Amino acid sequence: MVNLAIKELLMIPGPTMVPLDILLAQAGQMINHRGPSFKQIQDKIVTKGRDLFKTKNGSVFILTCSGTGGMEAAVVNTINPGEQVLVLKVGEFGERFVKICKAFGAVVDVLSVEPGQALQPTAVAKQLANYAPGNLKAVLFQQNETSTGVLNPVKEIAALIRKQSPDTLVIVDSVSGLLTADLQMDAWDLDVVCAGSQKAFMTAPGVALLAVSSRAMKAIEACKNPRFYFDLVAAKKFLETGETPWTPAISVIYGMDKAYDLIFQEGVENIFKRHELLMKATRAGVRATGCKLLVTDERVASRAVTAILPPEGVDAEALRKEVKNKWGVVFAAGQGALKGKIFRITHLGYTDPKDTFAALACLEMALRSLGSPVELGKGVAAAQEAFMQVEPVVA
Ligand SMILES: Cc1ncc(COP(=O)(O)O)c(C=O)c1O
Repeated sequence: MVNLAIKELLMIPGPTMVPLDILLAQAGQMINHRGPSFKQIQDKIVTKGRDLFKTKNGSVFILTCSGTGGMEAAVVNTINPGEQVLVLKVGEFGERFVKICKAFGAVVDVLSVEPGQALQPTAVAKQLANYAPGNLKAVLFQQNETSTGVLNPVKEIAALIRKQSPDTLVIVDSVSGLLTADLQMDAWDLDVVCAGSQKAFMTAPGVALLAVSSRAMKAIEACKNPRFYFDLVAAKKFLETGETPWTPAISVIYGMDKAYDLIFQEGVENIFKRHELLMKATRAGVRATGCKLLVTDERVASRAVTAILPPEGVDAEALRKEVKNKWGVVFAAGQGALKGKIFRITHLGYTDPKDTFAALACLEMALRSLGSPVELGKGVAAAQEAFMQVEPVVA
């Protein structure tokens, strides 16, 4: 037996592989988190972070927690027990917002769509019409629903909310969305947006960024919800002195510091284009293998991850196992109701065409091993054709 899987290629939508420069940065010696060196890094991350969220006046907080902590911080700081909220649920991460809101005593309405569908502005408008003026505290939804591979039309949905329910807070989970597709906090009038270090930032897990509008900051100051670790009133006071209330994940923050350098060097708009191109090539490649795409409308297909139905007769989990054990490539499983039915291939963060080729080539071999009549190389060739449509930058 020959072992052909001597290195692992992570093709899951976070944590992603980490560039060497960021890995090395994360290995740096500890510093006093209440000293000038930490202040300098934090100032950079929050100040330049405004350019990532596209806000001039919003506050950006660094929280030591995973993306779910960012979601919880958004809820616990803005919504009082007993207040009405609406969650627009596209998949499992929408369901997570439902659970968090319920855990903190909000009255939760849920508008759901079928797996693989994006939010429909007309359905959202109809739902919003149910609330008397001033009676809907917040609407919460994902920019990118990672479990189904859907990109929601945030701009359109936010505009509807602002028109029909002007005082309602618009809370967006962009944990897997930020930097994969455009998001304009000020222009689209979003109130709270959260992001996570292990996604398009290509850094280790452990830091969430939370961007907060001045409207949301007022709600935060007035909010009576009991909270402690995620108290953004305390976080704001510390931010002003260049600190965080509690000991931050310094190693991850070193990584984020380096990630910012790489991100601004590449350019935010170029990063969107890279994600879109990888998404297109992955979709073309997957289609050519005989697998099916869960999201059929490319306009709302996630730029971060593609959700895939295996061909008839092939079990999604057996396929993931085959790809991992024989070829060392890790695809993500389905979540919730899609567990065992789909698998997911990322194109998020530190992913480039070579990873996409490897993923598709190994997918084809695994399909063949599991009895699917796939023609080897067809998926890879389809992705190559997609990449040949652009003139890549020569470094
Ligand atoms: C859209 C979305 N929201 C929230 C999360 C939760 O983040 P974490 O797993 O870092 O808590 C994830 C993680 O995959 C995500 O994709």
